[in-house]
Amino acid sequence: MNSYLKRFHVPAFAVLALAGVVLLGLTGCGGGQPQTGGAPASSGTPTAATVPGGNAQQGQQAISKYGCGSCHTIPGVQGANATAAPSLAGFAGRSQIASTVPNTPDNLVKWIQNPKSVKPSTAMPSVGVTEPDAKNIAAYLETLK
Ligand code: HEC
Repeated sequence: MNSYLKRFHVPAFAVLALAGVVLLGLTGCGGGQPQTGGAPASSGTPTAATVPGGNAQQGQQAISKYGCGSCHTIPGVQGANATAAPSLAGFAGRSQIASTVPNTPDNLVKWIQNPKSVKPSTAMPSVGVTEPDAKNIAAYLETLK
């Protein structure tokens, strides 16, 4: 250590300062790690919301019944390959519905029953979905990661 310092003419205080910076850096990193590790989990929770009273499996069938797939591509629904409207693949991960309201179960049920009540200018029509069907469909859409 001594010969190393002499060779490079490094004053002792510089070594101490350097050690301090390294230590600070280490503790800073240690404190940050749990935060960055926790962020994806906590941001995933609200988007992958479960819909109270909704049954995803029945929702999948209801989506076929109401013909949502004539406009949308919807993973897991047979024949739902249309591209006239935005694909609903990964819908659970979206923060908003039609870039208008937060993607919450309540808003989604409302949207499915009456899109224009959520966004008057929308091109999506109301296709006469009943409240129980809307809850089931919402539950299914929230499984689309
Ligand atoms: C006539 C075509 C059409 C039909 C049928 C239709 N939609 Fe849509 N849908 C649209 C269009 C167009 C948009 C984009 C609306 C906007 O951004 O204003 C949309 C948007 C959506 C969104 C928001 C997507 C996003 O990325 O924010 C959801 C969810 C949705 N539709 C679900 C459904 C469901 C469920 C059904 C069946 C009950 C259905 N749609 C039937 C045309 C349709």
